[in-house]
Amino acid sequence: MNNFCEFSEKEIALISSRLIHLAIVMDGNGRWATQKNLKRVEGHKVGAKTLKNVVQECFRIGIKYVTVFGFSTENWSRPKEEVSSIFNIINNEFKNIIEDYQNNEVKVKIIGKKNELPGYLIKAIDFLEKKTSKNNINFLTICLNYSGREDILDAINKVIYEKNSEIFDKKIDTLSPFLATKDVPDPDFLIRTGGEFRISNFLLYQIAYTELYFSNIMWPDFSKKNLYEAIKVFLQRKRKFGSLNSI
Ligand code: FPP
Repeated sequence: MNNFCEFSEKEIALISSRLIHLAIVMDGNGRWATQKNLKRVEGHKVGAKTLKNVVQECFRIGIKYVTVFGFSTENWSRPKEEVSSIFNIINNEFKNIIEDYQNNEVKVKIIGKKNELPGYLIKAIDFLEKKTSKNNINFLTICLNYSGREDILDAINKVIYEKNSEIFDKKIDTLSPFLATKDVPDPDFLIRTGGEFRISNFLLYQIAYTELYFSNIMWPDFSKKNLYEAIKVFLQRKRKFGSLNSI
């Protein structure tokens, strides 16, 4: 990523205080590849590189938490070869992540229905999470075989079947501690690339007050410049959380 215009110190301070958690839907890999007469898998490969660069940049400019949508429960309906290619790419990317993050402070967590993933990927997930478990400066959450609706249903089941007396005694009014994302704050900002204007079953409960940003750029082409443009828009947003004044 080339250095075209860095954020000022003032902007970085603003980002650190206001943009704690960025969520990303990396859409457009397939179309990017098709437009270039390449196989769709090539788009996912380049998309994985883009992810690495974007996450690195996010942490560098002071965003503490990044959550990305790697594979949804609905993505199983794609051709088998594409699904297994995506899993292979993710597996390879995990190896790079371990190398990149072993000396730094990024804790990686995978959320979603892990037990339905191929065995080699489950092993890789366990290894990656273990290797980064003690890191505590930045937090990367990767949603794999994830469904926002199922996350909510699982949370309700936990409340009903596992912890009900505790919940009802304390009159807890949020499901947040029972969601797969319980260790991370709700996202402040969500970027979706690829020109689609929908949420696609991503973090449904958690984005109640998240600022949304949709970019027409296909994910493999999403650059540092595009990231900065999006963040600048976020910094202009007035977040009111239902009140009259911005916070
Ligand atoms: C959506 O684009 C993208 C995906 C379903 C897969 C994204 C996965 C990666 C980029 C690999 C990431 C690596 C890790 C470690 C998580 P699409 O192919 O549906 O795009 P289209 O709408 O153009 O078809």
